[in-house]
Amino acid sequence: MKFNAPRGTNDILPPESTKWQYIEKITHNLFTNYNYQEIRTPIFEYTELFQRGIGEVTDIVEKEMYTFEDKGGRSITLRPEGTASVIRSFLENKIYGQAQPTKYYYIGPMFRYERPQSGRFRQFHQLGVEAVASNDPALDAEIISLGIRLLEKLGLEDLDVHLNSVGCKSCRPKYVEKLKKYLNENRDDLCDNCKDRIEKNPLRVLDCKNEGCKMVIEDAPKITEHLCEDCRIHFDEVQNYLDLINIDYTVNPLLVRGLDYYTNTAFEIKDNSLGAQDTVFGGGRYNGLAEEIGNRDIPGIGFALGIERLLLSLEEQGIELPVEDSLDLYITVIGDKAKAEAFKLLDMLRNEGLKTEIDYLERSVGSQMKSADRMNAEYTIIIGEDELNKNSATIRNMKSGNEKEVKLDDLTSEMKQLVDKEVF
Ligand code: HAM
Repeated sequence: MKFNAPRGTNDILPPESTKWQYIEKITHNLFTNYNYQEIRTPIFEYTELFQRGIGEVTDIVEKEMYTFEDKGGRSITLRPEGTASVIRSFLENKIYGQAQPTKYYYIGPMFRYERPQSGRFRQFHQLGVEAVASNDPALDAEIISLGIRLLEKLGLEDLDVHLNSVGCKSCRPKYVEKLKKYLNENRDDLCDNCKDRIEKNPLRVLDCKNEGCKMVIEDAPKITEHLCEDCRIHFDEVQNYLDLINIDYTVNPLLVRGLDYYTNTAFEIKDNSLGAQDTVFGGGRYNGLAEEIGNRDIPGIGFALGIERLLLSLEEQGIELPVEDSLDLYITVIGDKAKAEAFKLLDMLRNEGLKTEIDYLERSVGSQMKSADRMNAEYTIIIGEDELNKNSATIRNMKSGNEKEVKLDDLTSEMKQLVDKEVF
């Protein structure tokens, strides 16, 4: 019998997993500098949360959710994204009673039943941030810059920042009516999908890749020209703050996101070299989401970045992450008696923070040395009967070939000096 991982899922194997760890480490550090704290919400939630939060007439809710009934007859959905869960948690745990704003980040798997292709999977991973309970446009700029700075830290260049405002509940409905009218006037030139969308979700027409639709969209009324005074001021201020910290962006009035909760600022960061799935991260404000799922008027803004897409982008731009794939010390052992002693040393060395390995396949000295080489051991030491009798052995620097004789009792402290590792 043969098993494969389900379609659209991936095993993340070493050494690839070391890249993930590196990205996660940089993320934890950078996000902490911006004073965001980690939140971990469940992998599954009640289905209704996503129906209400993301919106019934979205691709995610209509077609892409992994939904099932649990043994208690409740409808459960594997989370397709993190924002609805974060706001659910914020409300459920009454975090609004604490000092605000609340700034969270998360890293974890998400699930969408999509057609798998490069950069699109059924289980994928997001790292995301959500800043809740402030409508300050400076926070919009902080969120966008946080994502950009993360990508810069990882070495990515030439990313396109698309920025838009999708208005609020007071100005957007008027715009949507205008758009509907225009789309109906040009109905014959739209694809069947978009004809359908005119009534159901006309904003999504702006996002259509069909050539005929694109022509129609070119002359469609633009949301940026129909913003109310508050939304226009907010949008201007977001741009001013981005200018202050030298973040380049293009205002793209056709940018609409695939989730319904957005209000005001919406953005997507694209890497053109990625092909069809070129959005590395996207997000925006969702000032109506807490109202929708918890009857509380609490604003929020955030983004989520696809880690698989980020890795593709790094690969495309030829960036190698500085991941650690070496060993501090490989202990080559000759004979059973030496193995017992070496095993004790191994335990000590590791507990002192030194990355150390030993042979577990009873191999010859030659094979053990080959293993040491394959594992990129910086140093090796041979421990056999002679070394035990002398209570000393020779540490060899694998690069330079230099050797140093040490007492076995001093091995750990000598190695620490050689490797000069920060131990904590
Ligand atoms: P989203 O645009 O649906 O937004 O997803 C964010 C990112 O997740 C995408 O830009 C992409 O990199 C990655 N992604 C989405 N679907 C897939 C997939 N099937 N395979 C691989 N990567 C994928 C959200 O999820 C919002 N919750 C973002 C947000 C946070 N808005 C405000 N706060």
